Amino acid sequence: MQQSSLVVVANHLPIGGNLAPDGTSRWRRSPGGLSSALHPLLWHTPATWIGWAGRPGAAPALADVGEVRLCPVPMTDEEMHDHYEGFANSTLWPLYHDAVEQPVHHRRWWDAYLRVNRRFAEAAAEVAEADATVWVQDYHLQLVPRLLRELRPDVRIGFFLHVPFPPPELFTQLPRRAELLRGMLGADLVGFQLAQAAHNFAQLATTLLGLEATDRQVRVDDRIVRIGAFPISIDVAEMSGLAERPDVLARAAQLRADLGNPRQVIVAVDRMDYTKGIEQRLKAYRELLEDGELRVGETVLVQVAVPGREGILRYRRLRERVEREVARINGEFGRVGAMAVHYLTQPFDRPELAALYRVADVLAVTPLRDGMNLVAKEFVAARGDRAGALLLSEFAGAAAELPQAYLVNPHDLDGLKRTLLQALRAEPADAAARMAAMRERLHHHDIRAWARAYLSALDSRHGPELLARVTEE
Ligand code: ADP
Ligand code: F6P
Repeated sequence: MQQSSLVVVANHLPIGGNLAPDGTSRWRRSPGGLSSALHPLLWHTPATWIGWAGRPGAAPALADVGEVRLCPVPMTDEEMHDHYEGFANSTLWPLYHDAVEQPVHHRRWWDAYLRVNRRFAEAAAEVAEADATVWVQDYHLQLVPRLLRELRPDVRIGFFLHVPFPPPELFTQLPRRAELLRGMLGADLVGFQLAQAAHNFAQLATTLLGLEATDRQVRVDDRIVRIGAFPISIDVAEMSGLAERPDVLARAAQLRADLGNPRQVIVAVDRMDYTKGIEQRLKAYRELLEDGELRVGETVLVQVAVPGREGILRYRRLRERVEREVARINGEFGRVGAMAVHYLTQPFDRPELAALYRVADVLAVTPLRDGMNLVAKEFVAARGDRAGALLLSEFAGAAAELPQAYLVNPHDLDGLKRTLLQALRAEPADAAARMAAMRERLHHHDIRAWARAYLSALDSRHGPELLARVTEE
């Protein structure tokens, strides 16, 4: 295997389901923040991406995508169940998202998590050239930094957590809490979305491991591990450019016409996940129709919800409940030719997403907890016309950067209804001023600024050069 100076380690390879029988693959931006964020950074960067190809069994031989060499890590059916669906997405995911669903604990899931993390670390140790940078992503791989350091003390190791890092009272519920912390502390730099997460981590390093820690660094033996907040962003230029393209604007106009030319369109774009607050949003919308505050024909909701993780019963059940509620709302309030909710579960290409953002009078992003939420930022980037209102949960990481949005607590149903109405009834001048302020923030904090900030914190000498071709733009 050829070696690289930059190695990205993430649970999935960025190929979605695009794996042909002959092993050829195409980069696919599958719905999900990690894939969306790293795509514009890595597409033109010589690097190796280590990840799972998405099918159980032996690792297929894969051709490069763009300049990125793909290094697939095999996973058995059982490991996929115990590592990905189990420990990562049934223990850590709910716990890290405020335990909005009860985290599940099984001892055998931990064994699989450790085994899979070790396999990823071994793959990284093999492909990293001397003095390389290895950038480990997300909660599926929290043990990799330490395991990799044992194998390759010469490489620089960065870890970035895309999801929230919980407060100590939640984290300490984890039976293997100390090992998880020590795993992350194998890195030279541990990055979080928000300063509060870095604070939580430092507190845990002190109380659970007895280490000397501040919100900026932790001393581990003779090493200093730096920690900090690096709020992730999007390719602002790409989304702004797309949203001004004549074909996208024509498509947005067509969408509005196809929706029956309502006075107002509410759009929501989520993965089908219980953290996204889809049920609370549908309930608020139904009650507004019941109250007569909103009328079908005048207002329409377009809810995009791409299903995933469907091997997990909770996700299948959520989908059933959402679909029942959509059918109920349409049954009770829709008319032939005038639906109350347009519900779509398909993945869309970027131009279609841009058109959806342009047709939205209100974009509703109301997760119960979210690490960042890139959809909110994509909407802002798409609104070069300064129109449209962003309804944004206080519990999305993006709220810290976009305080001019219509902020809402999605647990407060009356508050949600009230703020949705406010956003729908916003004075155009007020909405435009809010949008301009949010666009200004994004203009200075796009995905390239994020990568520059993270990589230069990881390695002030070589970091910025690693992604030079994209960060120069
Ligand atoms: P998460 O990481 O939890 O999925 P984010 O909002 O941060 O949430 O990121 C979701 C990403 O997935 C965004 O870049 C968004 O554009 C993309 N996405 C969401 N729904 C779709 C869809 N139906 N088709 C294509 N991309 C989607
Ligand atoms: O951003 C959080 C995250 O878990 C990413 O790691 C992942 O790309 C995305 O959500 C989608 O999740 P999954 O890969 O399980 O479909």
